[in-house]
Amino acid sequence: MTGTGSDPAPVPDRRATLLLPDPDATAAFAAWLAPRLGAGDTLLLHGDLGSGKTHFARALIGAMQRAAGQLPEEVPSPSFTLVQTYAAGETEIWHADLYRLHDAGEVVELGLGDAFGSALCLVEWPDRLGDEAPPDALHLRFAIDAVSPHNPDAPIPDAEPRRLSVWAGAPRHRQLIAAIAALAQGQPG
Ligand SMILES: Nc1ncnc2c1ncn2[C@@H]1O[C@H](COP(=O)(O)OP(=O)(O)OP(=O)(O)O)[C@@H](O)[C@H]1O
Ligand SMILES: [Mg+2]
Repeated sequence: MTGTGSDPAPVPDRRATLLLPDPDATAAFAAWLAPRLGAGDTLLLHGDLGSGKTHFARALIGAMQRAAGQLPEEVPSPSFTLVQTYAAGETEIWHADLYRLHDAGEVVELGLGDAFGSALCLVEWPDRLGDEAPPDALHLRFAIDAVSPHNPDAPIPDAEPRRLSVWAGAPRHRQLIAAIAALAQGQPG
């Protein structure tokens, strides 16, 4: 299976890109982002197999739980359960992997439709959401940062750096995107 469909067109000042040289850099970015997020936010995590979506979600959930004074829980990939839920203090966190979902109607059955707006939702393979995708979600796309083309049917090799693009469909994330763009300053282009 290949890509995640076409991305919604971002407004020009609402996109930032960040180089993530290794898994620790992804975890550090997740820890930076965690205190800037809360209940009602949805992160749509795009990217090919093995691009780092679960790694990012795991680090984000751990950071939020630590900030709430909890011991971080184990965060398994939800590729078979489709959804795993967590709590970080008062905040409910939903982590979904919709790779195996073939009908956007199942989103409602999973309860995700209700979770958007009340929980912090992290969604892998969000193209499966179709029209159920929240319009004000923050989009993150993890991609291999290599000159040679990557075969989209094969998992991305572990050792390759990743490049993260972040964009938003609505103005409320404008400041956050600007802060990510500032983080990216000084990184190799
Ligand atoms: N910069 C990086 N950021 C994140 N992961 C990286 C990075 N570099 C290498 N990796 C490795 O890539 C793998 C990413 O696996 P992960 O399960 O997070 O992918 P995924 O995008 O969730 O895939 P799937 O679509 O199958 O769910 C991990 O083994 C991780 O260590
Ligand atoms: Mg995953």
